Amino acid sequence: MIIWSLCLILILVFGSSHAKHLCHPDQREALWEFKSEFYVQKPDEMKSNTTTEMWRHNTDCCSWDGISCNPKTGKVVELALGDSYLNGPLRSNSSLFRLQHLRGLYLSYNNISSVLPDSIGKLKYLRVLSLGDCNFFGKIPSSIGNLSHLTSLDLSSNGFTGELPDSMGSLNRLTNLELVSNKLGGKFPHALLNLSEITMLDLRDNQFEGMLPSNMSTLSKLEDFEVSGNLFSGSIPKSLFMLPSLIHLNLNKNDFSGPLEIGNLSSPSKLGSLTLGENNFNGPISGSVSKLTELWFLDLSFWNTRRGLVSFNIFLNLKSLTFLDISYLNTRSIVDIGIFSGLMSLSHLDLSGINSKISSTLHLPSSMFTLILSSCNISEFPKFIQNQTSLRYLDISANQIEGQVPEWLWGLPGLRYVNISQNLFNGFEGSTNVIQRSANQMLDISSNTFQDLPLLPNSTMFFSGSDNQFSGEIPRAICKLVALDTLVLSNNNLNGSIPRCFKNFRTTLSVLHLRNNSLSGIFPDESIGDKLRSLDVGHNRLSGELPMSLINCTELEFLNVEDNIINDKFPSWLSLLPNLQILVLRSNEFYGPISSLGDSLSFPKLRIFDISDNRFTGVLPSDYFSGWTAISYVVDIEDRTPLRYAGRGSGYYHKSVGMTNKGSKMELVGSGFTIYKTIDVSRNRFEGNIPESISVLKELIVLNMSNNAFTGHIPTSLSNLTNLQSLDLSQNRLTGEIPPDLGKLTFLAWMNFSYNKLEGPIPHGTQFQSQNSSSFVENTALCGLPLKIRCGGEETTKQEQDEEKEEEEEQVFSWIAAAIGYVPGVVCGLTIAHILTSYKRDWFMNTVHYFT
Ligand SMILES: *[C@@H]1O[C@H](CO)[C@@H](O)[C@H](O)[C@H]1NC(C)=O
Ligand SMILES: *[C@@H]1O[C@H](CO)[C@@H](O)[C@H](O)[C@H]1NC(C)=O
Ligand SMILES: *[C@@H]1O[C@H](CO)[C@@H](O)[C@H](O)[C@H]1NC(C)=O
Ligand SMILES: *[C@@H]1O[C@H](CO)[C@@H](O)[C@H](O)[C@H]1NC(C)=O
Ligand SMILES: *[C@@H]1O[C@H](CO)[C@@H](O)[C@H](O)[C@H]1NC(C)=O
Ligand SMILES: *[C@@H]1O[C@H](CO)[C@@H](O)[C@H](O)[C@H]1NC(C)=O
Ligand SMILES: *[C@@H]1O[C@H](CO)[C@@H](O)[C@H](O)[C@H]1NC(C)=O
Ligand SMILES: *[C@@H]1O[C@H](CO)[C@@H](O)[C@H](O)[C@H]1NC(C)=O
Ligand SMILES: *[C@@H]1O[C@H](CO)[C@@H](O)[C@H](O)[C@H]1NC(C)=O
Ligand SMILES: *[C@@H]1O[C@H](CO)[C@@H](O)[C@H](O)[C@H]1NC(C)=O
Ligand SMILES: *[C@@H]1O[C@H](CO)[C@@H](O)[C@H](O)[C@H]1NC(C)=O
Ligand SMILES: *[C@@H]1O[C@H](CO)[C@@H](O)[C@H](O)[C@H]1NC(C)=O
Repeated sequence: MIIWSLCLILILVFGSSHAKHLCHPDQREALWEFKSEFYVQKPDEMKSNTTTEMWRHNTDCCSWDGISCNPKTGKVVELALGDSYLNGPLRSNSSLFRLQHLRGLYLSYNNISSVLPDSIGKLKYLRVLSLGDCNFFGKIPSSIGNLSHLTSLDLSSNGFTGELPDSMGSLNRLTNLELVSNKLGGKFPHALLNLSEITMLDLRDNQFEGMLPSNMSTLSKLEDFEVSGNLFSGSIPKSLFMLPSLIHLNLNKNDFSGPLEIGNLSSPSKLGSLTLGENNFNGPISGSVSKLTELWFLDLSFWNTRRGLVSFNIFLNLKSLTFLDISYLNTRSIVDIGIFSGLMSLSHLDLSGINSKISSTLHLPSSMFTLILSSCNISEFPKFIQNQTSLRYLDISANQIEGQVPEWLWGLPGLRYVNISQNLFNGFEGSTNVIQRSANQMLDISSNTFQDLPLLPNSTMFFSGSDNQFSGEIPRAICKLVALDTLVLSNNNLNGSIPRCFKNFRTTLSVLHLRNNSLSGIFPDESIGDKLRSLDVGHNRLSGELPMSLINCTELEFLNVEDNIINDKFPSWLSLLPNLQILVLRSNEFYGPISSLGDSLSFPKLRIFDISDNRFTGVLPSDYFSGWTAISYVVDIEDRTPLRYAGRGSGYYHKSVGMTNKGSKMELVGSGFTIYKTIDVSRNRFEGNIPESISVLKELIVLNMSNNAFTGHIPTSLSNLTNLQSLDLSQNRLTGEIPPDLGKLTFLAWMNFSYNKLEGPIPHGTQFQSQNSSSFVENTALCGLPLKIRCGGEETTKQEQDEEKEEEEEQVFSWIAAAIGYVPGVVCGLTIAHILTSYKRDWFMNTVHYFT
């Protein structure tokens, strides 16, 4: 009986399961092998099994997660393994390519990290191929043109390079093509003009260049054309506006120029969003914009009217506008903000950089969500804002508004972001906790004349109060801001110690800038959170040791403690921080050697290393710099620093560092950092030879080893530092000759070898000859120009001296120009651009959210 029942059960189990398997054994094997080609690497804290980990070999593969089969044939038709933590290369012999009947392949958000093999062309029934964010690199294989059934192709956010293959022109059923965020280049791919079914073409954030084709009329079904963030130039082809179905046109952040010609529209345009900001457009803004009556989103920012006049009436016809950005038009017109009150759907208005008139009766539509009036020459707080009850985001920075910030502002129920920086405000109207009662999250009051720090709401994420007149201690009320991400109080008169309570926001604080105050006491370990990315406490009177808890800040990029009285050994443990780019310990009381025996440090991302003016001692081992990759090679360093919140309009802050370059002090701010690669160990007590390994730092721009006790010869290998612009070896005990090959360093504009024991001829080469003679004085026996000592002992002639003087003057002039070029201009532009674009994206998402 028992045996009989067992048999029955076995028959039932095996028989039925076999009978029910829809999956073909060959398909199952292919899937199983495919799974084994990758290893699953999921976050430690993730306990559940990922898609492929759930697969069981003895079950019907058609029932596996992520698999769909054709119910009749049992062939696998869809493989959906997006975000499955797959790691490993996709090889051309992958068993994936045995799944010949696939119609949908979704592998986005895995780490495949290989080229896309040619064999992809074998999956000839594919309709949808989705390979976004997979870490693919190399060229897009031309075999992709064999996928003639393809309707949707997504290769976004990979590292694809080169031009698009011409074969893509045969994908004549393609409706969606997404190539965003790769490194694709070349001219606009003409093959794409063959894609007559295409509705969405997204080439954003690549390196395409040249003009758009003049006739794009073949793309007759195109609805969405996005090419922002490329290098396209020339004028916008009129044919684009003629495309009957076009709804979104985004040409933002390219180099397009010329006037805007919309031409004669045969039928009413459906264009809903037109994004032309941050290009090189110039001349008058064409009134024909007003023909685009369906527009709800219009961005003409940074259009350069060359101080011309703008007739703002041209926008009043666009009754559906919800987003209007006409900031920085370089116009001399004055805009009466009141004229926009007729645009009943308006929710985002940016008039920055245009002188504005605000009449007393002005009211904007109640839908206003974002209002940006930065640099609008406003001298009174705009009262109409009191009635904008939907307002979430307000920026009235860089105006001339005086007096107190009105109390009613904090009563606006939706307000989350307020930027009133760069005005003449001196206080807050109302009781001390008036702001605290609001739900504000981001507040920028920097560069005003406030004297008392306001109490902030506990929802605060971003606060910048730099460049005011705050004095006294940092209020302990700040300890209650548990969501704080950015705190900037630089350039005030704050004294007392750094609060220990910062541990309250250990898990959020990423930017802490307290530079240039009078803070004293020891630097508390407890003030450091694990999420810190940027710490600047320079120019205070902090003492004690550098907090060891920094070692847990694995995201730290920027550390500046310059000009304090920190008394500590060299923090060699900082080399464990994988992201450290800038380390400034200058002008403190650090002491002792900076290397322990046989232990060379490795700072893979470090670009600025300034430990000058301390009491460091000892010999630098000859391989000291060998692991300093970022200064040795051209590397792509992301300057992630600007702003998490820049996004929302300004959370930006300036990183800044004083440095001595070319003998003079200068201040580097913002993105200037990405270009500077500096080593400054001057004004210490180092001795021994200059380490040979310095020659691996091929990207070094400034090297300052002056005022130490270095001995021995100047290494010949210094001539390998071909990017060097400034070299200071003065005030040491160097002997021997200046290596003649240094004469070949063509960018070396400034140098100083004075006060050593050097001898022999000064190298030839214009860079050397054009230096001031003071760069070579007080040596044992240097000779030749620019010194007045001939290498035979005689004085140089009068004529030679005059020539020398002229060249000197030129030289001074040119490097001042260079310094100016380097610093704020570029930086500011980049920063603004960055802020604006990221902000817009954010706005868009908020708005969508808001409207739905
Ligand atoms: C994950 O898979 C393993 C076998 O690989 C299994 O033992 C475990 O129960 C599974 N866990 C979950 C949560 O499914
Ligand atoms: C595919 O080729 C690689 C070498 O390129 C080899 O190591 C691997 O075993 C091959 N895999 C299969 C399934 O044939
Ligand atoms: C992706 O894979 C590559 C190569 O295997 C590896 O170097 C890299 O660290 C991986 N990236 C992530 C985020 O796991
Ligand atoms: C693509 O098609 C061409 C001709 O139709 C053929 O020669 C080539 O081998 C195919 N490539 C792939 C990878 O299937
Ligand atoms: C364009 O498509 C047609 C068929 O629709 C095809 O014959 C032709 O080769 C394609 N041209 C290019 C450049 O791919
Ligand atoms: C654009 O090309 C289409 C065919 O591709 C042609 O019919 C049309 O006349 C062209 N238009 C212009 C303005 O050249
Ligand atoms: C545009 O249309 C108007 C009349 O509708 C006509 O007079 C004019 O010549 C057209 N311009 C162009 C460039 O086609
Ligand atoms: C700002 O407006 C005042 C008048 O209110 C005017 O005199 C001044 O020139 C304007 N400033 C700029 C920079 O346009
Ligand atoms: C706000 O609107 C009300 C009526 O809606 C009006 O009476 C009041 O004057 C407005 N206030 C301001 C400052 O415009
Ligand atoms: C913030 O303050 C409000 C009231 O002021 C309170 O209800 C809320 O719980 C506080 N939130 C946190 C995270 O402390
Ligand atoms: C770093 O973090 C770990 C775990 O949170 C902690 O145990 C350790 O004390 C921290 N190290 C320092 C130097 O603060
Ligand atoms: C200088 O660089 C060249 C090529 O990069 C290398 O061969 C040479 O060894 C280097 N010289 C020194 C002294 O490091």
